[in-house]
Amino acid sequence: MTDSQQDLGGKTREDAWRLVTENVQNEGLRKHMLCVEIAMRAYAEHYGGDPDYWGTLGLVHDWDWEIHPTAEGHPTEGARMLRETGWPEDFVRSILSHATYTDVPRSEIQDRALFACDELCGLIVATALVKPGKSLAEVDARSVSWVASPSTR
Ligand SMILES: [Fe+2]
Repeated sequence: MTDSQQDLGGKTREDAWRLVTENVQNEGLRKHMLCVEIAMRAYAEHYGGDPDYWGTLGLVHDWDWEIHPTAEGHPTEGARMLRETGWPEDFVRSILSHATYTDVPRSEIQDRALFACDELCGLIVATALVKPGKSLAEVDARSVSWVASPSTR
């Protein structure tokens, strides 16, 4: 379990989805954030976190990419905007921690899960894209591990 509050401060998943749909037009990026949301909910259940809080972290984590598509702006400027619109500080700190260049430590377990799920979802989608049908339905654990380290098969 974690020491942070895991309280959305009155914000909801619907608020998060509105943030995404109002600011992200790229369908692939929306799907990526939905993928990270689903993975985060699963890891919350595994590690004893709050699935709504962890899932919302996953859903929001790249919300500002189309506004700030550089390391100078994302997620730092997006975090400032989240604070200004009432998202809780712990939540915003976790969003900042998912970028390797912000110097915000991944001090909470949900921070580490967000970092891992962000990469994991990218790997799963990349695995699907090398399958003949380019479908997630063709992806299993064995094929993901092959894509991740083909020399060890
Ligand atoms: Fe991401």
